[in-house]
Amino acid sequence: MSGVAGGDKVGGLVVVVMWLKGKIALITGAASGIGERTAKLFAEHGAKVVVADVQDHLGHAVCDVIGSSNSKYVHCDVTNEEDVKNAVDTTVAAYGKLDIMFCNAGVADPNKARIMDVEKVDFQRVLDINVLGVFLSMKHAARIMVPARAGSIISMASLASNIGGAASHAYCCSKHAVAGLTKNLAVELGQFGIRVNCLSPYAMVTPLASSFVGLDDEALENLISSRANLKGVTLKTDDVANAALFLVSEEARYISGQNLHIDGGLGIVNPSFGLFEYPDS
Ligand SMILES: NC(=O)c1ccc[n+]([C@@H]2O[C@H](COP(=O)([O-])OP(=O)(O)OC[C@H]3O[C@@H](n4cnc5c(N)ncnc54)[C@H](O)[C@@H]3O)[C@@H](O)[C@H]2O)c1
Repeated sequence: MSGVAGGDKVGGLVVVVMWLKGKIALITGAASGIGERTAKLFAEHGAKVVVADVQDHLGHAVCDVIGSSNSKYVHCDVTNEEDVKNAVDTTVAAYGKLDIMFCNAGVADPNKARIMDVEKVDFQRVLDINVLGVFLSMKHAARIMVPARAGSIISMASLASNIGGAASHAYCCSKHAVAGLTKNLAVELGQFGIRVNCLSPYAMVTPLASSFVGLDDEALENLISSRANLKGVTLKTDDVANAALFLVSEEARYISGQNLHIDGGLGIVNPSFGLFEYPDS
């Protein structure tokens, strides 16, 4: 993204573009992975960021890097409505408003090939965190944004929100649900000028993905690249953070109800056709 804080060179001058100057953002699951990277990027772009997570030590460490004048950590289990309410109220008490809610926290269940082996408790946990957690985060963000008649909400779905066979049954269900909830809420909140969108990345190295497949980072990246449609580039948390930045910024002011795929086209191809295989590639 050209607007990286720190600047672009234009005619010898460094032009610093801050896409989120003066904005207040709350990000769930921001102690690690995509949420952590997004919290740092939003702060680089002038936002004050509240990092909400259950991993307190890691969450505080993210805020230490961002700086205490621009960030705050709040313990928040997204399945607990009191915690979510408290995270939103803490944000408003600290910074006076809530412009951006990123419902990012999510988990995967153990990787099982057969539905007969999936435990109810594991299925339920994924739906609780990935769906109920997003619902509660959206609900309490709306509580602040509707009276303000402004705001932007993004949720975290996945390529598995669009296709089958890309993740476990629980994860696939949960991300389809997030995409549906996002659409519904975009319809409800459009009348207040509030935009609601979701992000659907393919796979990248984070603790969630590594523990699901049980591979080290290099082996996981190799596996991800081998299955990718777009070759020569590897999906990173930076790519998802940049997409999030765009969606919550004024540059996307007329975009709502969308499920933005960050998947290099993987979600729109059925590779079994093999129609465009170059003989020498
Ligand atoms: N990594 C991928 O390949 C990938 C691809 C598509 C979508 N996603 C989605 O991206 C989101 C972020 O995942 P990630 O890959 O960065 O993984 P991650 O494990 O690095 O981050 C997830 C964060 O969510 C937090 N979390 C878990 N349960 C929570 C709860 N109950 N309340 C609050 N926070 C909780 C974790 O502590 C962690 O900090 C998830 O929703 C995931 O489904 C990831």
